[in-house]
Amino acid sequence: MKEKGTRVVLIGTGAVGSSYAFAMMNQGVAEEFVMIDMNRDKAFGDVMDLNHGKAFANKPTNVWLGEYADCKDADIVCICAGASQQPGETRLDLVEKNMVIFKAIVTEVMASGFDGIFLVATNPVDILTQATQAFSGLPKGRVIGSGTTLDTARLRYMLSDYFDVSVKNVHAYIIGEHGDTELPVWSTATIGNVPLDEYLQRHDAYCQEDLDKIFLDVRDAAYTVIKHKGATYYGIAMSLARITKAILGNEAAILTVSTFLNDEFGQNDVCIGVPAIVARSGVRTVVEMTLSDEEQERLTHSVNTLKAIYEPAMH
Ligand code: LAC
Repeated sequence: MKEKGTRVVLIGTGAVGSSYAFAMMNQGVAEEFVMIDMNRDKAFGDVMDLNHGKAFANKPTNVWLGEYADCKDADIVCICAGASQQPGETRLDLVEKNMVIFKAIVTEVMASGFDGIFLVATNPVDILTQATQAFSGLPKGRVIGSGTTLDTARLRYMLSDYFDVSVKNVHAYIIGEHGDTELPVWSTATIGNVPLDEYLQRHDAYCQEDLDKIFLDVRDAAYTVIKHKGATYYGIAMSLARITKAILGNEAAILTVSTFLNDEFGQNDVCIGVPAIVARSGVRTVVEMTLSDEEQERLTHSVNTLKAIYEPAMH
């Protein structure tokens, strides 16, 4: 028998799931990548197509068409299944449809004997992350949502473009709901090690008003992409690959994933995007920081928005 390698099972091979598979294969993140979809034909085609590129990957990934039983030995099960946002819809509009789908999926995964980490991407991601925690009964740190990882990446990219500084030297977080109530944490942002405020003071060419516009572009980015091409998938797929790499590589990387809050940032009983240390055990700890009064208020509003959706949806 072959020795089992690091295994990721993907459930849902639509545009997001298959782009994640492509990113994972290119980056050689896992040794085994198993694909499951209701539409087995589509998943079968994806498996074939990806395997045809195996000769060109840096590190070979074994990709195959799977069954729920394959989740038993998985390190990570990533769920990308469900209805996606259509033009004019918010992420929160998807909750009813996707909650039903999630209950069925998580129940099947757990029935396999799965004892790894769930990574949730389907929207509304914060709500479905919390639902996955409830349905699976796994320790809270082992159910992680993509949260505002992508929103943070979008912000860093746009700030990097604005300031003409490498994206690697732009440190700024988007936290809160992955959706309309998210917020930028300007008070702790830095360019290199220079606090953003000081950076603005030192350079006349830049101003807070421009940053406020950049935030609106970040917040509304998915709507804009959906307007142009009908869906978003590459950005979220790369975010998922990044989180997966942090887990399997035991990186202790700080990423703004959706995780359960237990008094951190003064919030409770909610899954929401905040900076957290992501390692082999999942979310190890939330990285707290002092927010400005306005940021704290906006985070509370975002938490309350999610709670108002989650609680009725679970009953
Ligand atoms: C987006 C989807 C993943 O923000 O919600 O692109």
